[in-house]
Amino acid sequence: MNVTELSKIAKQMVAPGKGILAADESMPTVGKRFASINLENTEDNRRAFREMLLTSPGEGQYISGVILFDETIRQKTSSGKSFVEVLKSEGILPGIKVDQGIKEMASGSVEKVTTHGLTGLAERLAEYVALGAKFAKWRAVITISDTTPTPANIAQNAQDLAQYALECQKAGLVPMVEPEVLLDGNHSLQASAKVLEQTLVAVFDELKKAGVAPEGVILKSSMAISGKDSGVKDTPTQVAKTTIDVFKKVLPAELAGVVFLSGGQSEVQATANLNAMNQSRTPVNGTAMHLTGDLPWPLTFSYARALQDGATKTWKGLKENLQAAQKVFLHRAKMNSLASQGKYTEELEKGFTASAGGEATQD
Ligand code: 13P
Repeated sequence: MNVTELSKIAKQMVAPGKGILAADESMPTVGKRFASINLENTEDNRRAFREMLLTSPGEGQYISGVILFDETIRQKTSSGKSFVEVLKSEGILPGIKVDQGIKEMASGSVEKVTTHGLTGLAERLAEYVALGAKFAKWRAVITISDTTPTPANIAQNAQDLAQYALECQKAGLVPMVEPEVLLDGNHSLQASAKVLEQTLVAVFDELKKAGVAPEGVILKSSMAISGKDSGVKDTPTQVAKTTIDVFKKVLPAELAGVVFLSGGQSEVQATANLNAMNQSRTPVNGTAMHLTGDLPWPLTFSYARALQDGATKTWKGLKENLQAAQKVFLHRAKMNSLASQGKYTEELEKGFTASAGGEATQD
């Protein structure tokens, strides 16, 4: 394992003012996004959709890496350039989703595991490295309800994430470790924080036991936030303070960085919450700058829906909407870039209609 090289890639992923675009939706999840614009879920439409996002001119200013899906890492633009080459020419790191979706932990259980994706993982990683991937992502989910999460579910997901992370580092890929505490449910902000803490304690314990080098790991986290059905809308300051309090208790200082998923938050909400995380840092020389605050880790974005929703609705699968959709996408990327530096304000949204966010559940 070459920890120096892994650490270099990880630092690039969370470079100041940049974040990650998650464009790794599985076929059924893309199907849901396309249903909202009445577009058929065909291979060519998925290719055109990814081309719209990945060829947005100048996106490398805001985007450090893109998480691709197995189909996408093999696809080309309409002019015949591979998506991996497109990203490289913008200075963007190609990443790849390597979990194989979530399954019920036991028949009829609301809890999910991803253990099945570990079969043949080393071989799949070697192929992705050959295709140009520099980092990988694995998403596990934790469900909050009156009876969950169970300690067994947290433990299983933590063990699977650690095994995946170790395989990645052995293969030369930076693991993006994603234990997503789902937004679905009517739980409180405090309940969300408690489960986030329990989950991260278990995950970082297993990573350590497995011998995973934290300086070559990116944590992809959910925010501590009230459940979608709770009727409560937390302020960005509440979300930021509660989330950061958990991180301070749990995360090792050597961890390379934290990126957030949007999880069903609206575009503006996800941006405002990220901004508050970075504003809540102790200012140095009068300005709250990335990496200069009182936390050892950069905090930035790795959004799918909160970067893509508006652009998808503008695009609608039509060539004539391509430029307008890319403009919307670049605006969102810029807003999140500013938020990763604590420099975002809602006035900057003038002239753009941000999308309202969707349901939290996805594959
Ligand atoms: P959302 O930002 O839409 O939650 O997706 C991020 C992601 O990659 C989930 O795995």
